[in-house]
Order: sequence, then C-alpha cells, then structure tokens
Amino acid sequence: MRHDLEISYLGIEMPEPTALSPFFAEVIGLMPGEPGAAGTLTWRNDAKSYRLIVQPGPASDAVFVGLEAAGTAAFDRAAHRLRDLDYELVEGTEADLAERRVTRLVKAQAPWGVRVELVAGLADALTPFSSGLVPGGFLTEGVGFGHAVFATTAFDESHRFLTEGLGFTQSDWIEMQIAEGIELEVRFYHCNARHHSIAVARAPFDLPQKLHHLMVETTERDDVEAAFDRARDSGLDIPMGLGLHDNDRMFSFYVQSPAGFLVEVGHGARTITEPWTGNRRYDRTSVWGHQPLRVG
Ligand SMILES: [Fe+2]
Repeated sequence: MRHDLEISYLGIEMPEPTALSPFFAEVIGLMPGEPGAAGTLTWRNDAKSYRLIVQPGPASDAVFVGLEAAGTAAFDRAAHRLRDLDYELVEGTEADLAERRVTRLVKAQAPWGVRVELVAGLADALTPFSSGLVPGGFLTEGVGFGHAVFATTAFDESHRFLTEGLGFTQSDWIEMQIAEGIELEVRFYHCNARHHSIAVARAPFDLPQKLHHLMVETTERDDVEAAFDRARDSGLDIPMGLGLHDNDRMFSFYVQSPAGFLVEVGHGARTITEPWTGNRRYDRTSVWGHQPLRVG
C-alpha cells in the first residue's frame, strides 16, 4: 500500500479553548497533550505529542490541518506538485517547527479555506498514551489520527488540490438527494490504508463552519458503544446515532461538539487495497442507523 502522507493533526480555533476540554476528555476520551503558547491546548489519541490543537481565536472552526509526509522524498514530491499547480507555499520558520514539534513544515492555503501544513517528523510525546475511557486506544498506526470532512463551494478546485497537488486518490463518492431539491455530494480521498483521511462536501454557499466533522477510530468496537453512552449522558446533540456507513463500512455515531462541528467516533472501517478499484458512486450514507437522536 502506497503511504506518502498521514493526517497528522487538526488545528481548531475557539474563543475559549478550555470550552472543548470536558468534551474531548470526558466524552471522546482523548488525553491532554502539553499546552502550547498563549492559551493553546493540545489533545492526543496516540503516542504522538498531540493530534488536536485548540488555540484562542474567533473562528470556532478548523483553521489548519497537518499532513505528515512519510519521509523526505514524499515531502518533496508533495511540495513540488503543489508548486507546479501554482499554489503558494510558505516555508515554516524555526519557531513554527518548534511549536509543531516537526522537522519540516511548509504551509499552503487549501481551496476549502483551511491552511494545510505539510510536515515531516512529528515528535512522539514523552509519556505513553493511555485513556481510561478508551482502554483499547485509537487506530492511528500508519494512518494518522483519523479523518476530517470539510464543506466548501470550491469543490472541484479542492479535488485538484488534493489529487494533483498532495497526491491523494479518490476512494469513492456519495451523491444523493437528502430532501426535495437538496443534493448531498461528498468525495472521499485516501493517502494511505485508511479509507479516507480527508473528504470534501459540496456546499451550495459559504457555510459558517468549514469543518463538518473530525473522526477518531477506536481499535475496539466496545469503545464506540461506551463513547456513545457518554455522549448520550452529556446532553450534547447526537445528530447521528449508531449506524454503519455504506462506503467505508464504519460503525460509528456523531456527537455535536460545543464548537458546533461534529465528532464521529467509529470502529472497523474497511481499508484501502491497491490497485484501488472501489471508486464508485454511493447513493446512501448508511446501510443502517445514523439517525438523529437528539438535535436542537
Ligand atoms: Fe466521517
């Protein structure tokens, strides 16, 4: 399996970063990482020093996403391809490298309005990962922290940026009518064995949040069900209860974070094999379930 990139971290901006702490710690079961500069908090779901960064700011949204190259050659290939497509790359400073705990970093503005940080050498934490709430831990080895799904009006340009620029491959897509006259169109992209590390939904107009959801995958199915119980007990909205996705065959549910975007907790998704012959249209999101349980 080709393995050039992994989704290594997601940067979230919140007016008050601590507002997400009980959610990430007590509902999702993440482990705090070391705090960064100026009120920035970090969260871990494996041995890496952090996977989510929550920094102070007005957006209540994702503002950057880190993609870690599997080596120098993979880093250079992705950077060259982006430059060839006329995307402007800004070299990370020494301070950027220290803050992100990486050995290389270039920044580009993705068409969906979130900065992409192409990095290499994300450092491990000084302590092992351990979550009392998710005893089996999360599936991240060789596949990054999970996945992120963004909504954008720049749908086709985002496709080009991901495939021709970063070297992702489209896994498949969903095209379906979700209500009279309302189409849902989502394209799913892989860069390693995970079915998708990034997906992009076509937005009819600019939405207040670019991040629709982030996903973390547990290694044990029971840990999804326990997380579902915690989400239900939290009083937070559950726009999609337990269910099974059709395209990636993920058993999961979605809880709405206090920031507004959703977090999907899942298990058991199928993986990408090569040559990939599964790129086809799906006309439903789920085989069963994923029904709204408590919204608004
Ligand atoms: Fe998802």
